[in-house]
Amino acid sequence: MTPDQSPLAIDRQDTFLGREIGRLSYGCWRLPGAPQAEVAAKIDAALEIGANLIDTAAVYGFGGDGFGAAEAMLGKLIAERQSLRDDIVLVTKGGITPPLPYNSSAEHLIASCEASLQRLNCDHVDLFLVHRPDNLTGHAAVAEALGELVRSGKARAVGVSNYTLEQTRALQHFLDEPIVATQPEISAWCTETLFNGVLDHAQSASMLPMAWSPLAGGSLATGIAPGGSPDRFPDLIAVIDRIAGDNNSTRDCVALAWLLAHPAGIVPILGTQSPERIRAAAGAFDINMNRRDWYDILEASLGERMP
Ligand SMILES: NC(=O)c1ccc[n+]([C@@H]2O[C@H](COP(=O)([O-])OP(=O)(O)OC[C@H]3O[C@@H](n4cnc5c(N)ncnc54)[C@H](OP(=O)(O)O)[C@@H]3O)[C@@H](O)[C@H]2O)c1
Repeated sequence: MTPDQSPLAIDRQDTFLGREIGRLSYGCWRLPGAPQAEVAAKIDAALEIGANLIDTAAVYGFGGDGFGAAEAMLGKLIAERQSLRDDIVLVTKGGITPPLPYNSSAEHLIASCEASLQRLNCDHVDLFLVHRPDNLTGHAAVAEALGELVRSGKARAVGVSNYTLEQTRALQHFLDEPIVATQPEISAWCTETLFNGVLDHAQSASMLPMAWSPLAGGSLATGIAPGGSPDRFPDLIAVIDRIAGDNNSTRDCVALAWLLAHPAGIVPILGTQSPERIRAAAGAFDINMNRRDWYDILEASLGERMP
């Protein structure tokens, strides 16, 4: 086998905040809208495949069941089953405050985390993320809030979501605690972080990169192009289908394996509401993807050959 043909290494586990975590994680954005009775089956399916890092946010549920609804659903399960809290690495976010749209003032972030803890029925989260950069709050004020959350024990660690490299560096400048995680959108269709420095910085600063919408909101599984997409989306699906066929697997496993094979140690956040699909996502660890396959996906996504 030439080096070109050897499968890229895909680790199943990583260490984060002194805990073993699965390289796949589970996200609660889409929990509201489905019955509470189904939450346990989704979380159990995630834990079954080692996806013990569970991501949520204060705003999840807004526009449907209401602001805080996703945390409240997960919190109900934690209240019913106290052992669950120790089984998971719990991540939440604050700072999106519809209809403002954002408020990351120190006062608001601290109050947001406290309200999240109440809904989640626990005394701390493992990781608190600033959900989006707020243009009207200086980095020093955000740092003040994050530092206070760690010192008070309400968050074991802190991080950012949807921050550029420069915004992350500016925040870190004012913060004594390390920014341990970043959560941008990353998928075989949304490849910007491969080129804008976010994944490079995550490596040099030992930050965990968590990928939101790893299937581009489902498009990479269904093959239905995201709204407003350029015409090349079917070319990307054709490459993914070819690799799925070679592996006797599925589009979603190939799209997840593409993220898992990146050397930054990307942790895709699964968003499906189907326990069967959550379990099936573990098939991503069995995909044999070589360098040529990986670049075939990137080139199809970009619509051009690498220089
Ligand atoms: N930080 C941020 O700003 C931010 C933003 C968005 C999301 N997130 C996080 O990222 C998580 C994941 O995002 P996401 O839900 O957009 O992820 P995603 O995995 O890209 O999309 C999930 C969607 O794809 C569908 N899907 C998955 N597998 C499928 C399959 N095999 N066939 C057909 N449809 C399939 C799901 O439908 P079914 O349920 O029917 O399977 C669901 O509607 C969220 O829960 C949240 O925790 C963070």
